[in-house]
Amino acid sequence: MFLKSLLSFETSTMNYFLLFIIGLATYVGLFYYRYFTRQSPLPGPIPLPIIGNVLQYTGDAGKFVEALRLIYGDIFEFYSGTRRVVCVCRSEMAGKLFNSPLRVHSNDGLDEYGMSNKGILFNSDYDNWSTHRRFLQKTIATPQSSKETVEFTQTLFQEMEKLWKRVDSNDGDVKEIDFTGWLSRFTFENTLFLMTKLRAHALTNYYNAINPQNKVVEPEGTIPKSHSYIEIFKTAFEGAHFFLLTPKLLRNSPGMRETRNRLLSNKTGASTNLLKIIEERRTQIEKSNEKIDSNDLLTKFLTANEKISDDDIRATIMDLLLGGTLTTASTLSAIVYYLGHNPKVQKRMVQELDDVLGSDRDSNITIDQVNKLEYTDAIFKEASRLFPTIPVNVRTNAEPNEIAGYKFPAKTQFLIDVERIHRSPDYWTDPDTFNPDRWLNKSDTKMYSSYYQFGGGARECPGKKMALAEVKTLIALLYRNYDIELVDKVSPLNYKYDFIKIVQGLEIKIKPRN
Ligand code: HEM
Repeated sequence: MFLKSLLSFETSTMNYFLLFIIGLATYVGLFYYRYFTRQSPLPGPIPLPIIGNVLQYTGDAGKFVEALRLIYGDIFEFYSGTRRVVCVCRSEMAGKLFNSPLRVHSNDGLDEYGMSNKGILFNSDYDNWSTHRRFLQKTIATPQSSKETVEFTQTLFQEMEKLWKRVDSNDGDVKEIDFTGWLSRFTFENTLFLMTKLRAHALTNYYNAINPQNKVVEPEGTIPKSHSYIEIFKTAFEGAHFFLLTPKLLRNSPGMRETRNRLLSNKTGASTNLLKIIEERRTQIEKSNEKIDSNDLLTKFLTANEKISDDDIRATIMDLLLGGTLTTASTLSAIVYYLGHNPKVQKRMVQELDDVLGSDRDSNITIDQVNKLEYTDAIFKEASRLFPTIPVNVRTNAEPNEIAGYKFPAKTQFLIDVERIHRSPDYWTDPDTFNPDRWLNKSDTKMYSSYYQFGGGARECPGKKMALAEVKTLIALLYRNYDIELVDKVSPLNYKYDFIKIVQGLEIKIKPRN
């Protein structure tokens, strides 16, 4: 009896095992049948079923794509899980793709992370995205917004200077500061204020966190421990990166489940703070009998004719804080880095600042003056060309399309290798040389149409004007008033890649100018 049941147990286990093997073999067979009969096959590494080429991915999309480009050429493919990804490395191909208003098609990872049909960045619901995008065009992309950015950047700079003066120094007036640490708080505070007119006092909060022995009185801000909100953003980028690229099976595997849960809980924490802010402003508006006359995005959302849910508003504000904080801080760091390595360029830029802004170093800077800083603008473009904060961009096609003679079905995922295009000798003379002068030749259309620091088409960065106003004003304030040197003049610019290049650990020496 016992032997019989043991045998039947063994038989049924065997059956399950056999079924599993047959199922697996069919899946693998079908996967490779589809792979070898796909439309317009391109060169690229052969994928594994289920996980694709995930094992070859180094965690830095820019480096990964460059390594494959060197082997397979300017258009190739790889697999992210079971999804085919086509990578293009030439400006002519990229220009066509940027016209598509879709970044990614719905994706189970982004669904799980709550980003695929909300907000701006990864929203693949076209109608929902365009409603939010329209709001942005009317608020943050206006000349008034650029003017406010220039003004508030100065207010914030004065606050930062006061805190810098308190930083200990062994060398008189010369202070050594972790530029990236300060900058990320600066750009966060700036973006938060311009979107909501609220203050988090992240700079003071940061100063107190790194100077516990010499604290200053901290005004009450909207977000507790605001200096550490930056870490939440870094983790949010890590989350988007992880959920977009990691196949479901791997995300839920014992080795990765902990990471998945940590990233989800980080996102919930960030959302809770923002929802509270939105609720408070809504109550304030409802209680107020007078018409609220504010241009900020949050108030505009809450007083709009069409009803937009708090969570939808939360998603867009979160995306703006994500989109506007570390990108701007990293771009600024890259500029300071390249200036540190090119003293002649720095000298010429300081001369332009003196010429345009005048001799009174305490005078207010206006948007008109910022717009006249042509050489500074060229430095911005050149540093961003060599160090694009988003080195690889993404697009998908709603309809079948054709690129470089290859036909692709709808919903193909494309990657655009911006970093390569920015350094290709086909578009740039001496591509690896930092030479802002190249931008002064406005008639070189080939160069202008191969520059994608802010992307392109309908999904081009809506914060572009704001970012330009902020970066140029801050550079003007820094170099008009201080002599700036890099502490380490040898090491390359250090960054961590998580969708964007997040510069870290850039130390500078600042000394008031004579
Ligand atoms: C130097 C600073 C910045 C850089 C380098 C940058 C770069 C970019 C790039 C490359 C894109 C993708 C565009 C595309 O796919 O075509 C993008 C999108 C975006 N950026 Fe920026 N950005 C910066 C500053 C800002 C600021 C200040 C904000 C807002 C306050 C912002 C908000 C956004 C948003 C919301 C998107 C998504 C747009 C959409 O999908 O419709 N960015 N940015």
